[in-house]
This record gives sequence, C-alpha cells and structure tokens, in this order.
Amino acid sequence: MFFDTIHAVPADPILGLGEAFKAETRAEKVNLGIGVYKNARGETPIVKAVKEAEKRLFESETSKNYLAIDGVDEYNAQTQILLFGAGHEIIASRRAKTAQSLGGTGALRVAAELAKHRLDVKNVWISSPTWPNHNAIFKAVGIEVRDYRYYNTTEHKLDWEGLIEDLSQVGKGDVVLLHGCCHNPTGIDPTPAQWDKLAQMSAEKGWLPLFDFAYQGFGNGLEEDAYSLRSFLKCNKELLIASSYSKNFGMYNERVGAFTVVAENEDTANRVHSQVKSIIRTLYSNPASHGANTIALVLKDADLKAQWIVELDEMRARIKAMRDKFVALLKAKGAAQDFDFIIGQNGIFSFSGLTPEQVDRLKNEFAIYIVRSGRINVAGMTDDNIDYLCESIVKVL
Ligand code: LMR
Repeated sequence: MFFDTIHAVPADPILGLGEAFKAETRAEKVNLGIGVYKNARGETPIVKAVKEAEKRLFESETSKNYLAIDGVDEYNAQTQILLFGAGHEIIASRRAKTAQSLGGTGALRVAAELAKHRLDVKNVWISSPTWPNHNAIFKAVGIEVRDYRYYNTTEHKLDWEGLIEDLSQVGKGDVVLLHGCCHNPTGIDPTPAQWDKLAQMSAEKGWLPLFDFAYQGFGNGLEEDAYSLRSFLKCNKELLIASSYSKNFGMYNERVGAFTVVAENEDTANRVHSQVKSIIRTLYSNPASHGANTIALVLKDADLKAQWIVELDEMRARIKAMRDKFVALLKAKGAAQDFDFIIGQNGIFSFSGLTPEQVDRLKNEFAIYIVRSGRINVAGMTDDNIDYLCESIVKVL
C-alpha cells in the first residue's frame, strides 16, 4: 500500500502541547505553553474594539466575493502605518508593498518562498534559540539554516559578543531573521543602541534583513516596539517584514498577518510585489476577508483605534504585573535560585531556565504544561493558578 512506508511525525513542540493539555484529565491543570494572551480569569477574550467593528462589518457587508490576491487594501495601508509610523517617507514614496497573509506564519512562508525561488538566497541566519517553526519553514523551501548565538544561558542575558561574532560571518545576500521585539522564546531584545549597531552592520555587509514582528505593543508600546525596524530602515533600503495581529488584536483564529517588502523605489517594490502575488496564488490563491476587514475598520476609525490601544495597554500591564508577581512568589515560596532576570524580559514569554527534565516533571506530577525549552507563557498566569505554579516549580528545582 502507498502509505505503508509513512512514519508518524512527533507532535509539534508548541501546538502539540495544547492538544495534550486538552486531553489532560486532572482538575488542577495549568496551560503555559502556546503564546496566547489570557485575562485575569484565564480567558482569551475578544477585544471590545474588535467586537464593535465586527458588528459594523456584519451590518455593512454585502458580498462574499473573493478578495484580491494581496487582500484588503485598507488593511495593508493601515499595516504600513503601524510598522513605519504615519507620515514616514516610505509610505509617501510608495516603496513598500504589503500583502495580507495567513497569520505571521503565512507571511514567513511567503518570505521563504521569495528568498529561495525568486532571489536565490542560499542561507538564512536564525537566532539560537528561536521559535521552532522558523527552522521548519526555511528548511521546507530548501534554504540552508544557520544559527547565530543569541542567549547567554548562564547569565540569562543577550549574548551580544557571540551574536556579533556569528553575524560577522553572514555572506552578502544572506537573509538574517530578526525578532522585531519580544524575542520568542527568550523575551530578551537588543537595546536601541544595539539595534543601531546591527542596522549599520546589516547595511555594510549587504544582508537581506527579515523582521518577524508578531508582538508589536506587547513589549513597551506600539511605537517603542517598532524601534528595531525603524532603526534598520534608516540604513537599509531593502527589507522584508512578516507581521501579525494574532496577539495584539487577540485574533488568533482569524489568521491576520501581513508580508511587507521595502524596496529602493516604487518601481522595484511593484516588481517584487508582483512576484509575491504569484507566490500567494500558488500557495492559497487569496486570503480570508473577515479578520482583515475587521482590523481595517478598527484602525481607520479614530475612536475604535484609541479603544484598541487602551485594551492593548491593559494586556501589556497585566503581563508585566504577573511577571513581577511570579518572580516575587518564587522567592517567597523558597526558590533557592535567583529568578530576577525574568523581570527584565519583554512580551508574553519568560525564558525560565527550567530544564527539559524539570518541565517533564511539572507536566507529569503537577499537570503544568510548559514548552520543553523552559519557555513559560506569563500571560497564562492568573491569581488563581500562580501559587500552585510557583509551589510546583520550587518542588522540581
Ligand atoms: C507561540 O510561539 O506559542 C505562538 O507563536 C504560537 C505558535 O504558532 O507557535
């Protein structure tokens, strides 16, 4: 039979954990795996501004006709405003083109296809550690994946020297993948001065930078979190961005992402964009309407946008509060080691330093689900589960 030689693939390290959690029967169970925001009640709520926009959309929608290959124009235009800032020269000169994509992952896959099949890129440089799907996406299109050092495990900080040493080996025309903010999984980002240095290095060495920008607003604010990207734009005329609204709009299941190409001029941007559209046509033809039209409605309406920003600020504040509480409680419950480094991390993840064996014990003995790298979703902590979590962690340390 045809399928007899097919072997089963191990479950996805992140999404597979969600499936295992669903099947978990113990009553006191905690899911800190997949990077999804949860409120103080442990729910992943629909943002109120989104709900309001959905109501308006429901009333005004008159057709379910196909979208264009690159999706909703207003959504793409609003995406550029968030990425570059309103009034940025790139917007005025039209030298960036955005295509709505199936989440940030879809944008990354389009980027990988463009790099491999249209630009003949040989290597992509990826931070070590990184989101596991980065490796898989680039391997899937046949680009060589190279690692650059990112994290100093003993001191729990950015391995700046290692990073610079490794990135000095990047060849002209290689893609360098950067996490725009809230590095996944470490939560550690370069400082503004370090971003400036990397931006200069990139321009001097001729890298093609690719920003994975999935957490804008979860670090320090919408504008603050775009520092990395805008610093690169000062030095680099060409750049790729895979962005996502899954987290900051809480629209995980609507698959709302975008792939943006910044080129030297409008003509070049249009030519590259035509290639992007030909890639999308063969991958999934055209994207879905609901999520993108909802987001476009929020972002072009000043009141709804302001309301969304308030809600985003609240999400960020809650994550920061839980981060502080987590560290304080670990100390109070008797953790011998120092976890203060967690306070300075950005975004929803805490790279805890827990070993795979400790993570396994947390799952097997306490029904606490964490990614085996030791990455904990801080947003999954609530006042109801944090005591149990910290007591359990102290037991496995
Ligand atoms: C995560 O890292 O948990 C999220 O980006 C969700 C995913 O697709 O892995």
